[in-house]
Amino acid sequence: MCRSLEELRGNCKNCAKCGLAKIRNNVVFGVGNEKARVMLVGEGPGENEDLLGEPFVGRAGKLLDKMLESIDLNRDKNVYIANIVKCRPPNNRDPSEAEQEACIGWLRNQVFLIKPRIIVCLGRVAAKKIMKNDIKITKEHGIFYKKGKILFMATFHPAALLRNPQNKPCAFEDFLKLERRINTKTLEY
Ligand code: URA
Repeated sequence: MCRSLEELRGNCKNCAKCGLAKIRNNVVFGVGNEKARVMLVGEGPGENEDLLGEPFVGRAGKLLDKMLESIDLNRDKNVYIANIVKCRPPNNRDPSEAEQEACIGWLRNQVFLIKPRIIVCLGRVAAKKIMKNDIKITKEHGIFYKKGKILFMATFHPAALLRNPQNKPCAFEDFLKLERRINTKTLEY
């Protein structure tokens, strides 16, 4: 367990725990405010993220930024964004169970150091790994569960919203629920 994000990032950059290490351009560790109360977790880097080394920088990322902005959240200001796997799975396939398991320790250490009050899982892969194995996003999006000191909520993956824009209003509602939770006193340190 690393005691600082800087040390953790340094170690993660050299990770070779799974086969994705051999084909990556960059490890996509995470971005945002390291003291954020809200953390967002996606699935894994795509092509743009692999090239730039930052999560959610493609079209889906632009949509995510717009949704965050609508509730006054911003990766440069008050959220932290990471993924279940830090290296790009080829052809944007889902990360395998083995890849997720090899990588999840980095995210656990990030959560330990950042200590977010709320974790939002973006899409099925993140929600399955972090919340529960049989989660159905279409049914359970926007519902908050408390585990330990952290509130968890799953919502649609922004890339899924680009494919199915009819779900955008539901996703925006989830973000409004998130805003209400952020503004409740229970989230104060
Ligand atoms: N999709 C994800 O799940 N994560 C990213 O960083 C980019 C796209």
